[in-house]
Amino acid sequence: MGGIRGLLRLCALAFVLFVGLASISLPGALGWSKEGHMMTCRIAQNLLGPEAANAVENLLPQNLNGDLSALCVWPDQIRHWYRYRWTSPLHFIDTPDNACTFDYSRDCVKDACVDGAIQNFTSQLLHYRDGTADRRYNLTEALLFLSHFMGDIHQPMHVGFTSDKGGNTVDLRWFRHKSNLHHVWDREIILTALKDFHDNDMVLLQEAIERNFSDGIWFDDVTSWKECDDLLSCPDKYATESINIACKWGYKGVKEGLTLADDYFDSRMPIVMKRIAQGGVRLAMYLNRIFGGPEEGFCITNIRKKNPTNLHKTWKTLTVIFLCYCN
Ligand SMILES: *[C@@H]1O[C@H](CO)[C@@H](O)[C@H](O)[C@H]1NC(C)=O
Ligand SMILES: *[C@@H]1O[C@H](CO)[C@@H](O)[C@H](O)[C@H]1NC(C)=O
Ligand SMILES: *[C@@H]1O[C@H](CO)[C@@H](O)[C@H](O)[C@H]1NC(C)=O
Ligand SMILES: [Zn+2]
Repeated sequence: MGGIRGLLRLCALAFVLFVGLASISLPGALGWSKEGHMMTCRIAQNLLGPEAANAVENLLPQNLNGDLSALCVWPDQIRHWYRYRWTSPLHFIDTPDNACTFDYSRDCVKDACVDGAIQNFTSQLLHYRDGTADRRYNLTEALLFLSHFMGDIHQPMHVGFTSDKGGNTVDLRWFRHKSNLHHVWDREIILTALKDFHDNDMVLLQEAIERNFSDGIWFDDVTSWKECDDLLSCPDKYATESINIACKWGYKGVKEGLTLADDYFDSRMPIVMKRIAQGGVRLAMYLNRIFGGPEEGFCITNIRKKNPTNLHKTWKTLTVIFLCYCN
């Protein structure tokens, strides 16, 4: 255990904050799946301790320079390929209509749901540290799947009702254009928030979310978000939260053919942002514990913000470094 490691044991935290001003030139609009997943993964990556950061960098293809978010949507891109057809049911959970509960044995038959998938890939990755990984498993893929599915399980409508496919068949209007209830939660709310409040800049939105848990409205909640006695059973809790939100906020008052606009947006937007924050914080907690051992992942302020390698962005960075101690 070297000096740096010892410092970490004392919970000395390097809190490095890059305030990045991005000038952005993205071609066309990005889908939520891309934006929601990228923000989740960037939030997580900024919270990784040195061991997890190293493992992630080792597992990712070289040309990404350790930028996890670049591949966080990969599982959505390959789900229809023949070779990966088995992954298709792993993005969601169907629960009985109007039950508003999640029951693993009832809703995740043969582990084929997003909760089972998180457990599966967590178990595979837990062998990384001791070098006993099963050669049948590709740990690069396991990392990408875990990172993606941690996002999906936090999207409330990914734990929705069976007959409407998590709101996918509930056609309606979002302001003036056609959409459906699932898509409103996947993408529309985020795109509207980006447009109305963040200059259509995903980095600005991600930073606003990070500010709200590093010293804003969610600061006091982060510790409870990260509470987890057993990495393999905590996804049950996340799925239960999602179906509860789906019932209370997703489906509530919504009928086929309705137009959803300001009222729905204003009341649901904060929930979407909180779920993205929780997904990111919890993904970091998983990776810190998987790669760094069980006692890692409990310090609140460990923001190590890397300069993301993104061809489309020019970053100007201002770096503020300070050390703080917790406990
Ligand atoms: C777990 O992952 C392996 C591939 O890494 C896959 O073959 C298996 O079907 C998965 N099982 C579940 C329940 O997701
Ligand atoms: C693991 O999966 C990645 C992504 O599919 C692939 O590029 C890589 O070649 C695989 N590694 C091995 C050893 O099969
Ligand atoms: C951050 O918190 C403020 C309230 O303090 C809220 O108005 C704002 O919408 C939040 N932003 C995000 C992205 O969650
Ligand atoms: Zn997905």
